[in-house]
Amino acid sequence: MNAPLPLLNVKDLVVRFRAAGMALPFAGARYINAVNGVSLAVAPGETLGIVGESGCGKSTLGRAILQLVDAQAGEVRFEDGLVSLRDKNSIARLRGQAAMIFQDPYGSLNPRIPVGEAIAEVLRVHDKAAPDAVPARVAELLRLVGLSTELAERRPHQLSGGQCQRVGIARALAIEPRLIIADECVAALDVSIQAQILNLLMELQRRMNLSLIFISHDLGVVRHLCRRVAVMYLGRIVEIGPTEQVFAAPKHPYTRALLAAVPDIDPDRPLAPPQLRGEPPSPQDLPTGCPFHPRCPHAQEVCAHGEAPALRPTERGDVACHFDLPPNAQQGEEP
Ligand SMILES: Nc1ncnc2c1ncn2[C@@H]1O[C@H](COP(=O)(O)OP(=O)(O)O)[C@@H](O)[C@H]1O
Ligand SMILES: [Mg+2]
Repeated sequence: MNAPLPLLNVKDLVVRFRAAGMALPFAGARYINAVNGVSLAVAPGETLGIVGESGCGKSTLGRAILQLVDAQAGEVRFEDGLVSLRDKNSIARLRGQAAMIFQDPYGSLNPRIPVGEAIAEVLRVHDKAAPDAVPARVAELLRLVGLSTELAERRPHQLSGGQCQRVGIARALAIEPRLIIADECVAALDVSIQAQILNLLMELQRRMNLSLIFISHDLGVVRHLCRRVAVMYLGRIVEIGPTEQVFAAPKHPYTRALLAAVPDIDPDRPLAPPQLRGEPPSPQDLPTGCPFHPRCPHAQEVCAHGEAPALRPTERGDVACHFDLPPNAQQGEEP
């Protein structure tokens, strides 16, 4: 049997921003290399977590997939159709089937518009309900995300953060999406509210067979929610695979360090694995060779001067490392 066609297919995506404050004519244009050649596929109904330190390009990747920022190279296919900002029809199709939930529940809503109207607006723009059916559909969406329909008249500042995030989810669901990209969607909320929102999102994801890309710096949450996980470092995916396998036996030294920094992620983990040295390099000035080599406890000559390692398949996911490190390789050991 053939594997089902992915809903989303991203290939070699590159996003650069022009760095600010470089106006001098002799100072050649400088770029922030936010996403440096990312490929990934998401199947219908699949949950993919994206993790990595702040600044590694997670949000930019999510936004580039949804064409909210322009990519300089690579391609995004949705239902096997190429999506491009230069093709308005492709954008309209994408916007009708894929939505983003943002981190800041207040910032993503217009403060002057009652939240019921904010949901109605989505229904109208995407032609998802006949005009006279809009109020009933708004009420239905509010109930779906666990909000009283009486809240429809309120403005965002009259709601709690958790309630606003539910409105954000209702707006995303209003288009009847096949894909949702949730970018740190609970990071701004109280811990007690976080669990409620996550449970709601997962329940809806299962019930509607949504594909979900869940961007988070919280490894525990990703482990709980996502069947697969991609680990990003300096704008690249350095490891991607089934969550349980990546968490139980991480292959890339960066993944190992990341997991080691979360002591309670697995109380049975035997040894404290290596910690990272230094800070991540600036995305304006990418290292030669493997982007992780300046911080890698296992780096060899080829890591500094060879080609950056591409993702290669292993028996438990794909990893971008020149070496097959033994499962418990410690800092300073030769691979
Ligand atoms: N609109 C923008 N203009 C310029 N630089 C940006 C912009 N958005 C993000 N960046 C830069 O791109 C890099 C990746 O950022 P981001 O995608 O937000 O990372 P993450 O979500 O993993 O924290 C960072 O260096 C960030 O400063
Ligand atoms: Mg981000």
